[in-house]
This record gives sequence, C-alpha cells and structure tokens, in this order.
Amino acid sequence: MKRYQALADTMAAEIRTGRLPVGARLPSVRHLTTQYGVGQSTVFRAYYLLEEWGLIRARERSGYYVAPGAKLSMPPIPPMPPTPLAEPAPIDVSSLVFSVLDAVKRPDVAPLGSAFPSPALFPLQRLAKSLAHATRMLDPWSTVTDMPPGSEPLRRQIALRYIGMGIAQPVEELIVTNGAMEALTLCLMAVTKPGDVVAIESPCFYAALQAIEHLGLRAVEIPVDPRDGLDLDVLAEALDKHPVRACWFMTNLQNPTGVTLSVEKKRALVALLAKHDVPLIEDDVYGELHFARERPPPAKAFDTQGLVMHCASLSKTLAPGYRLGWVAAGRFADAIRRLKLMTSISTSIPIQAGIADYLEHGGFDKHLRKLRGALLAQRDAMEHAIARWLPPDVAFVRPDGGYFLWLQLADHVDAMQLHRRGLEHGINVTPGPIFSARHAYGNYVRINFGHPWSPQIEHAMKTLGELLRASA
Ligand SMILES: Cc1ncc(COP(=O)(O)O)c(C=O)c1O
Repeated sequence: MKRYQALADTMAAEIRTGRLPVGARLPSVRHLTTQYGVGQSTVFRAYYLLEEWGLIRARERSGYYVAPGAKLSMPPIPPMPPTPLAEPAPIDVSSLVFSVLDAVKRPDVAPLGSAFPSPALFPLQRLAKSLAHATRMLDPWSTVTDMPPGSEPLRRQIALRYIGMGIAQPVEELIVTNGAMEALTLCLMAVTKPGDVVAIESPCFYAALQAIEHLGLRAVEIPVDPRDGLDLDVLAEALDKHPVRACWFMTNLQNPTGVTLSVEKKRALVALLAKHDVPLIEDDVYGELHFARERPPPAKAFDTQGLVMHCASLSKTLAPGYRLGWVAAGRFADAIRRLKLMTSISTSIPIQAGIADYLEHGGFDKHLRKLRGALLAQRDAMEHAIARWLPPDVAFVRPDGGYFLWLQLADHVDAMQLHRRGLEHGINVTPGPIFSARHAYGNYVRINFGHPWSPQIEHAMKTLGELLRASA
C-alpha cells in the first residue's frame, strides 16, 4: 500500500470510531508531516482521498473538517491483493454471465441485480413528445442523409455537450451507434484482430469480457482499487512486457467499483498510452451521474493525439430502450464509420431525430440534476439499509455517483451461491465472479441503488442480511 493510502486509512479509522467527530477540524498538514514523518504531498494526497470517500470536506482558507454523515461510511475496503501481472489469456465468461443476466428479467425479483436505474426516474412523457414531433417533421431523405456517421443535428447537440466538458469535439469525429455497447465493440474491432492482446480492468464490466471473448482476443488484467482506481504502475509494466493493441477502461464511476480516476491519473494514463502509441477505448456511460459539483472530465479531455475513443450513451441517463450511443473516435473515426455501416448499417433514424429534438428543447440538464439528486438520496437510503441489516464485516467504498455499490463480503461467503439462494428468496444480487476473466471476486457482489426506496427493497436487504448471517 502507498504511504498516502496508509495515512488516509489511519485518518478514516479515527473518523469512523468517532475519535474525530463530525464537524471536527483535521490536524494541519504541518502537524501530520511531523507526526508521521511524511512529505506534504503525501498528506495532501491522503486528504484528497478522504475527500473522495466523502469523509472530509475542505473549507476555504480554514482547512479540512469531518463531513456530515461521515460516520455512515463503512470501514475502508482493504486494498485489492496485488494481482500478479497476468499473462494474456483468452476469455471464457459468457455462459456464466448469461445465466446471471437471465435472472434480471424476472419481475417478481427485487432489482438489486439490475444494470439500469428505475424507468420511473426518466422523463418518458417529454421524450415521447420529442419523438412524436421529430417523426412528424422527418425529412424522408434522412433515411439516406442520417446514415453513419449519423444525424448531423444530433451530432451537433452531442458536440455541444463536449464543449460543456471543456472539449472542442469535431462533429466529423462523432459516430452515432446503437448504445455505447456497439460503440465500444466497433472501437475494439477497429484496432485489433483475433489473437491480439487488450488491457482491461479487474474487476471489469462483464460485457467487455464478452466482447473480447467474442472477437477472439486475449486479455491482460490491470487491477482497479475501489479507492483510487486503475493501477498505472501495473499498466506500465504490461505495456512494456506485452504487445498490447488497445486498452478498454472506465475512467469515471467504474462499473462495478464506482471509482473515478483523479484528473492527475487521467492525464498520466493518456500520456503513458501516447508514449506507447496504444489507443484507449474509454467507456464513460456513467460520467453524467456524478454527485460532485462538476462532471468529472473523461480522459479524452487530455488527448492531443486522437488516440482516445470516448464512448458514451443515453442508456443510463435518459432513455435505456432507445439504444442511442456514440463514440468520439479521434483518428479512428473513418474506420469506425465503415465498420458501423458493415455491421448494422445505421442507427434508427426516427430515434436519432427524436433524441436530437429532446437534447435541443427537452431540458436534459434539468432532468440530470433531478436524477442525480434522486440517486444520491437512494445511495444514502441503501447505506442506511446496509448498516441496519447486513453484518458489520460488509465493506465498501462510498461511490460519488452512479447507482452501484461494490460490496466486499466476509471471506467465507460464496457470491455465486448467494446469488442463487437470493433468487429463491426473490432477490437478485450480481455476483463478483462475472466481473473477472478468471472468475475472481468470489466474495464480492454488486448491488443496484437506482430504484426509489420501497418496502420491497428494504425487505430484500433484510433478507440479504439473513442469508449472509446464515452462511457464517
Ligand atoms: C460500464 C458499461 N458500459 C457500457 C454499457 C452499455 O451501454 P448501452 O446500454 O448504452 O449500450 C453498460 C450497460 O450496462 C455499462 O454498464
């Protein structure tokens, strides 16, 4: 463990045990450098980490204070065991993933295992109005003109959102796709051929594993610490040792850990990949669901070489069923446009028109503010339910956005068995092994807090606690 992490853990323990109560001022940087014999930058990094965990807040010109609600957080999750640098290996996860995902469709099951937030949180009526208006006005020739790279008015609206992130995104490099999943897969196809090596995260979004499996690629896993994200030292080693053709990483609100890379790490990541001339396929589907004051920038914001393919969609924020995504593809735009034509010809023209209308007139930012507020309240409700119903050895790092919690359970718990037993009791949790090429994370589960709190969810958490205690 790095020194700043150890210091942050020590301070976190002081807060959680109440020795540093809510509202207390933290010791000065100078005091800590003397007390622990560390440099100032170590102390600052520890404080930034505590801030990310929601345990402390900075007050201008006054120092750091213990944040309200800080004691709610669970003990800090222990660092991941250092993964030995994996040799590139083919992947075989699909049957496991499909068996788990099939359970999500059951309407009688509490949605802790869902990949989506509740549809009740989306402005479906307003969207329907945009869709109806846009299809009435649709130019019959748009069937041809809106083929890949996609509808120009829509791509202009998307480019405007990049400006909001401080990125001057050329419209010509934006390609509209069927959800982010198609964008991500096309990126992978554009820069690899079967047998190539791709660097992925561990734990990793299961559909990335499936895409790699399907394209006959090999993967090398880079560990992700739920507190500060991707291990860049291991990545640097992997880039030196293996012929890595591409990286597929989530830089904001990673699925499943919820971790967001700091700006410093995003810059370092982009610089490292530029040095090796390795493209980054950046999956940023949750970035808009941050709870911080500002949207965390994607790594794309630091890309000067066109090496980052930034993939996003509206599936998590506005309209899951519309399947509207895109990629800001940099120097790979033309290759991806051709692949899109070859694989699915086009994204639905009426949907593109309807979404363009909504983005221009529908009040997307207002909706996002409301959605984030609802998710934040649901996260807090979920934390209360965990504290109330689950055994005290359940640990997690509080995510600063999105709608997933990555729970570390006691060592003896078998997450696959818990998943199966949960289904028998009407609850579905997503078991850790589907997030890993090697079926690791046997005592982890991902749970969803994207649904308005309800007696069904409260009851599901109570049952989960009973199942966990029974397994002891
Ligand atoms: C991390 C991540 N990336 C990509 C996707 C796919 O997004 P879309 O539904 O827009 O295809 C998902 C959906 O679950 C996801 O969780």
